Amino acid sequence: MQNALADHAWWQHGVVYQIYPRSFQDGNGDGIGDLSGIIRRLDHLVALGVDAVWLSPIYPSPMADFGYDVADHCAIDPTFGTLEDFDRLIDAVHGRGLRLILDYVPNHTSDRHPWFVASRASRRSEQRDWYVWHDPAPDGGPPNNWLSEFGGPAWSLDAATSQYYYHAYLPEQPDLNWRHPAVRDAMLDVLRFWFRRGVDGFRVDAIHHLIEDEELRDNPPNPDWRPGMSPAKRVLRTHTMDQPEVHEAIMAMRRVADEFGDRVMIGEAYLPIDRLMAYYGSDLSGFHLPFNFHLIATPWQPAAIAALIDAYEAALPNGGWPNWVLGNHDRSRLASRLGPDQVRIAAMLLLTLRGTPTIYQGEEIGMSDVPIPPEQVQDPWERNVPGLGLGRDPVRTPMQWDGSAHAGFSPVSPWLPVAQDHAVVNVASQAADPRSVLALYQALLRLRRTRPALSIGSYQPIAADTAVLAYARRYGDEHLLVALNFGGTTATLRQVRPGRLLLSTELDRSGQVIRDRLELRPNEGCILEIGGPGLP
Ligand code: GLC
Ligand code: CA
Repeated sequence: MQNALADHAWWQHGVVYQIYPRSFQDGNGDGIGDLSGIIRRLDHLVALGVDAVWLSPIYPSPMADFGYDVADHCAIDPTFGTLEDFDRLIDAVHGRGLRLILDYVPNHTSDRHPWFVASRASRRSEQRDWYVWHDPAPDGGPPNNWLSEFGGPAWSLDAATSQYYYHAYLPEQPDLNWRHPAVRDAMLDVLRFWFRRGVDGFRVDAIHHLIEDEELRDNPPNPDWRPGMSPAKRVLRTHTMDQPEVHEAIMAMRRVADEFGDRVMIGEAYLPIDRLMAYYGSDLSGFHLPFNFHLIATPWQPAAIAALIDAYEAALPNGGWPNWVLGNHDRSRLASRLGPDQVRIAAMLLLTLRGTPTIYQGEEIGMSDVPIPPEQVQDPWERNVPGLGLGRDPVRTPMQWDGSAHAGFSPVSPWLPVAQDHAVVNVASQAADPRSVLALYQALLRLRRTRPALSIGSYQPIAADTAVLAYARRYGDEHLLVALNFGGTTATLRQVRPGRLLLSTELDRSGQVIRDRLELRPNEGCILEIGGPGLP
């Protein structure tokens, strides 16, 4: 097995786990998660069986967008700890055989970043062009119709210098000007700083926004926009997203990663499959893993998902490694999006598809979105554009470790409320229950580790009932069959070659011999080994 995996990079057969540091574990009792808290909980990740940890931003930040507004790229925000804590964390992570991936936010900085402070100080500032400045339109308004993702125009007027600056997100998140060589150099040095400290890779934030149209052309109206949708979607992002120049910048980031060897670059790009593929770069000189978010938006039914897998597999460039994401700190949780009955199916799907999976913290115990009362809203998006369900606080509530007052997350009341179900849905109780969702994640991850077919094997769809998604994963002689019942009634997979059940999502019938027909209970998924000792 070891040999089989040796031909592959760690990020190909490994599994990534995303930590949202504010909400993972509070170590110093201020109600906000931090690095010492993460260190304390690393054994949970070892017991779970993941390979790499990605941390959302931990850099000094005014927290206008909870760390995605970076004021210093090469330090740690005091809320989270110190650089010494970081060094302790990286040692602790590596000491457990795990890898550490940091978030890299190249598109924008905080408006308090010294670069922006200098840039806005005067039109003649040496760093003026480090950001995207333009004169007002003739009527004094913004230079064009570009909109901020978080509501309102994407341009803010700096009264003192009478020019507008561009921000794809909040006014507190001015966009860097990646056309400027000095910006590139400075930002690439940020990668080197952390690579030298031992970081194993980066998740690159909002990469599709990195560069905008140089001619500032207006974005065309979006014919599909309807009231209730994000106001940012009133226009198509034709001239603000996915511009051709972005690929050069990605290649430059990748070259830095390659200076250090064995590191991974993951890109956050919400794009259609055909556009996404370009993010692997020509001759795979771009991201190792351009995040594939398509499972999040695809209707949760077998035919649609099978078609998505086929389309994605077919589109992959030669040698491009697939990856799958089901959720993150920006998207609704599985139990809320799909319903609690499908949480186990989602887990089995994510961890048996061909490609690197990313698990968002809390999914391994089936956490739900937590409704946030208006007076407790933290997310700037919800504040700017209230009531449309755009806010991300519900998926960022504290990790539920146990049934105690603040779920074992903190001794004090946390920055976002703890879910009411934490007395039932928590790590401690699920660790004691051999048939819990947590036990399922552990079993799936163990199986992935011991069965190369699941991590590096081929993928082949299998025709089935409308309620069932079935596929084979093979590596050498190892032949596994995955069958997932998306429906609430029993389903049968016919013409199955004899095999043995390795795992059911119900965790109650491994070892069963299956001949010809595999009966699936409502919402049950199974992994079968075809053939094997004593079977034809
Ligand atoms: C990414 C992050 C999101 C953040 C935005 C701006 O989409 O995942 O949380 O608000 O970029 O940095
Ligand atoms: Ca804390």
